[in-house]
Amino acid sequence: MKKIITLVVLVIGLANVNFADEGMWIPLLLEKYNIEDMQAKGFKLSAEDIYSINQDCLMDAVVIFGRGCTGEVVSDKGLLLTNHHCGYGAIQKHSSIENDYLTEGFWAMNMREELPNENLSVKFLKSIEDVTEKVLKDVSDDLTEDVRQEIIKTNIDTLKKLSTADTHYSAVIKPFFYGNQYYMFIYEEYKDVRLVGAPPSAIGKFGGDTDNWMFPRHTGDFSIFRIYADKDNKPAEYSEENVPYKPKRFLPISVKGINEGDFTWVMGYPGSTQEYLISDAIEQIANIRNPNRIEVRDARLEVMNKYADMNDTIRIKYASKNAGASNSWKRWKGEIVGLERLKTVEKKKALEAKFQNWAKLNSKTEYYKIIPQLSELYSEIEEYAIAYDYWRESIRSIEVIRFASMFDKVIKTIKDEGSEEDLEKELKKLQSELDKFFKDYVKDIDQEIFMKLVPMYYNKVNSTYKPNVQGLNIDEISGFADNLYSESLFLNQSKCNSLVQDFNKETIKVVENDPVYKFYKSFADIYKNEVKPKYDSLNYETKRLYRAYLKGLQEMNSDKIYYPDANFTMRVSYGNVEGFSPRDGVDYKYYTTIDGVIEKDNPQIYDYDVPQKLKDIYKAKDFGIYQQDGSVPVCFIATNHTTGGNSGSPVLDAEGNLIGLNFDRAWDGIMSDMMFDPERSRNVTLDIRYLLFIVDKFAGAGHLVDEMKIIK
Ligand code: ARG
Ligand code: GLU
Repeated sequence: MKKIITLVVLVIGLANVNFADEGMWIPLLLEKYNIEDMQAKGFKLSAEDIYSINQDCLMDAVVIFGRGCTGEVVSDKGLLLTNHHCGYGAIQKHSSIENDYLTEGFWAMNMREELPNENLSVKFLKSIEDVTEKVLKDVSDDLTEDVRQEIIKTNIDTLKKLSTADTHYSAVIKPFFYGNQYYMFIYEEYKDVRLVGAPPSAIGKFGGDTDNWMFPRHTGDFSIFRIYADKDNKPAEYSEENVPYKPKRFLPISVKGINEGDFTWVMGYPGSTQEYLISDAIEQIANIRNPNRIEVRDARLEVMNKYADMNDTIRIKYASKNAGASNSWKRWKGEIVGLERLKTVEKKKALEAKFQNWAKLNSKTEYYKIIPQLSELYSEIEEYAIAYDYWRESIRSIEVIRFASMFDKVIKTIKDEGSEEDLEKELKKLQSELDKFFKDYVKDIDQEIFMKLVPMYYNKVNSTYKPNVQGLNIDEISGFADNLYSESLFLNQSKCNSLVQDFNKETIKVVENDPVYKFYKSFADIYKNEVKPKYDSLNYETKRLYRAYLKGLQEMNSDKIYYPDANFTMRVSYGNVEGFSPRDGVDYKYYTTIDGVIEKDNPQIYDYDVPQKLKDIYKAKDFGIYQQDGSVPVCFIATNHTTGGNSGSPVLDAEGNLIGLNFDRAWDGIMSDMMFDPERSRNVTLDIRYLLFIVDKFAGAGHLVDEMKIIK
């Protein structure tokens, strides 16, 4: 008996080693795989409290916000929290010179003042189902990959239809472990989501791109929305008649405080990770792809920053473009350093060698060849990957070229003799792209970027993919650029407007003869015909091999519980509140406070210009119930495994109370999309007390706090 107990303890112990806070787990499987581990680490609830189809559960309070973020409901009147950078688009759309909500902040003092947002919706998850068997029905190992995928597609379509018939729900079925498993997610989408509050950017984006991906952090990265429904609490398009949505469940908020070591967990929508890539892929990313992409963005950012520093109008126009370009740029840089320090390639190589050995020893012929074949594929992919990245990063990111490419859909609709309706729809879209393009466009910036980026393409891609552009000499590009930027109609708003307002068969020629359009086309044709098809088919091939690899890995390590890569489906991550040591001699505490905001204050530096009102409140020490030890906590870090898409996700305590909003990761462990480092991978969370403090004391919107359930 004793032996058995020791064995059980040993097995559980072994399983635990694998966890080490890494992992993004499927809510449906928590009961099976995680709950014991979670509870051992301090979690006080059951798996059913998180996910259940039989009872209301915490999942009911968490939504997909817009297209790539997470949000959570915090009141019985549909009040919703997410990040400032997630609400940014909506806040910007409502902003004008007179009402500059981005700069000043926005606070609805009653429901009538809440602002509707076209094209913004939230999705509630109703259920998760393992549909592997149904999706793989009639699929056998001897099929070609194409036939396999075709059957899968048919099965998925049928299942989706069946599962949502006679409902207003939608179904999404996604592959897990590269298609070894499939899960179906049923959603209910609410389309009337209104803006309730946003702090000024000097709080919501405090630290800007300088502090982005970094800790210590002092960003008040939140915004507040409200979900509206029809009289029956059902989803409805925006209408004045709509009423605040009454949720099945909302999250209570704890202001009791956070200590190092506390159990903490995150529920949300991580977008994508690549944890099971083989060493060759990691080498390609770290040595070729990331450096190439960084090179191009370095150049773009350098030009944008130079102009932004010259003039505030330009800074505002390019704020969003700059943030977009610098976000991944900075992450890529951190990934290179982190992968290297973690010796990811060596570790992956060791695993691959072990796998090969195991396959040989056990005569698993189906697994012998996977690693060498994958390796071979990566060397084949390389030239396409380089061309692919330079097309996207250099050519496609030149603004006027992107804009020219937007005429393609309209042209195609006319050439394919699409219906009047389709054409009208496409023209409407084009018109709105046109307005957007000219609203924030500075020709000098774009032209300078053009002159830097086009030569990069020619210097790096294989000669097969270099179009022969008449008159282009990359060593003397400025004359060419001058001509292009002075002759093209895409730089003339009124000409573009008249063109779009009366677009027909004849005007296609005007577009097609334009020098910018021609320039774009010569690259696009090569990309579409020579690069993309091959790039896609080689990647498709790798997926098939990874599917076998993951199956084999799980067979080899049968006592290890694997988690699937993130794929923008709901996941739970859990760990502890914990500081870390990024470098020799440096220790990071697990939290920051408003003292640090004031320390960073510098009116000369845009990113650190603390609003006067906040400084006054600080001076008066008017911290209310949000204070701890004479200050207000601002951010904290923990070992929860998260990624892009987790922005806005609720960070919860052991009892399921909201203690913060996830919004970032710390630089030193940023390679966690490819390999998690328990020593250094940390998610960065906005402490809920700073959010409440800003709403209550800074904005004077205490009525919103009153609406929430605060646990003191
Ligand atoms: N790094 C955070 C996340 O991926 C915040 C991004 C927005 N902020 C910014 N400065 N660009 O996506
Ligand atoms: N800021 C990220 C987002 O927009 C979350 C941080 C991360 O990548 O972990 O989703």
